[in-house]
Amino acid sequence: MNILAIESSCDETSAAVLANGHMLSNVIATQLIHEQYGGVVPELASRAHQQHILPVVERALADANLPKNALSAIAFTRGPGLLGSLLVGASFAKALALGLNIPLIEVNHMQAHVLAHFIEDPKPVFPFLCLTVSGGHTQLVRVDSPLTMTIIGQTMDDAVGEAFDKSAKLLGLPYPGGPLIDKYAKEGDPLKFRFPMGEMPNLDFSFSGIKTAILYFLRDNKKINPDFVSQNLPDICASIQHTLIQMLLTKLKRAARETGIRDIAIAGGVSANSGLRTALTQLGAAQGWSIYIPSFDYCTDNAAMIAMAAQFKYEQGDFTDQTISPLPRMSF
Ligand code: KG4
Ligand code: ZN
Repeated sequence: MNILAIESSCDETSAAVLANGHMLSNVIATQLIHEQYGGVVPELASRAHQQHILPVVERALADANLPKNALSAIAFTRGPGLLGSLLVGASFAKALALGLNIPLIEVNHMQAHVLAHFIEDPKPVFPFLCLTVSGGHTQLVRVDSPLTMTIIGQTMDDAVGEAFDKSAKLLGLPYPGGPLIDKYAKEGDPLKFRFPMGEMPNLDFSFSGIKTAILYFLRDNKKINPDFVSQNLPDICASIQHTLIQMLLTKLKRAARETGIRDIAIAGGVSANSGLRTALTQLGAAQGWSIYIPSFDYCTDNAAMIAMAAQFKYEQGDFTDQTISPLPRMSF
């Protein structure tokens, strides 16, 4: 079984080849054009996908040392994501599957983030909980089998990745700011400044309040000292990151308590955050949980996770027909 997968939901064009359970390639072209605009510009993303997709797919096949006619199926991200970006990957995947006369497999991007855990060992044991944290989503997912997942909590407004990126923007850092906050936080005091965590009932999250609190905090301090940000950057980043991590872990603890599940995973771009990885490892040890943290390559958007999800669908004969179109708000 040789699957070629394509991911184009946001601003990374990626292709991967999974052959009989082994990931032979995972090529990612990052779009740097968005940096100067402080966020992803959808139309520019679509154009960049158009430019990158053929070289990225060709490179993925070359890295895997596999000719096109050895492929068994073509997988692609159907959603959620930006419509124009999804259309590029979907159209390319459909044309390739048609040309090679092989099955087409649609994949849900958020399910794929969770299933990235099955690319490498140790693999999570079912049922497990996955905290999926990305630039567009913040979800607590109960995973009963590879394709049976239930969202038991989610954000009511901003995603946590957005909270990282918007905070970074307020600090004058370029997009995407999450990794930069992570970097500066390493040298800062996480308890120097306090931000309100807010109170959400049940297992849902809200990150719009903390964003506003940071805005006013910076405004008030800059009035007193115009150089406040440059003089305190590591402490500010560490304090923001600490607050966001505590908000996530508070809900994760509650979800574990309510479901009785002790196998806990994290996924998505924000799971690359070093503070979150350390805090979860410590919490897991204290709670007696088995913790699953993906390799950095499989945290942020990549086609390897799409290929992994597609393999589970292939095994079930769950194929897609040529009339399919992308779903920007796809859920599961
Ligand atoms: O999963 P992903 O690559 O794309 C989406 O599906 O959204 O996640 C991207 C998000 C961005 O908000 C980015 O700032 C954040 O993940 N991110 C991080 C780190 N690396 C990526 N946030 C905090 N710390 C990091 N090290
Ligand atoms: Zn993603």
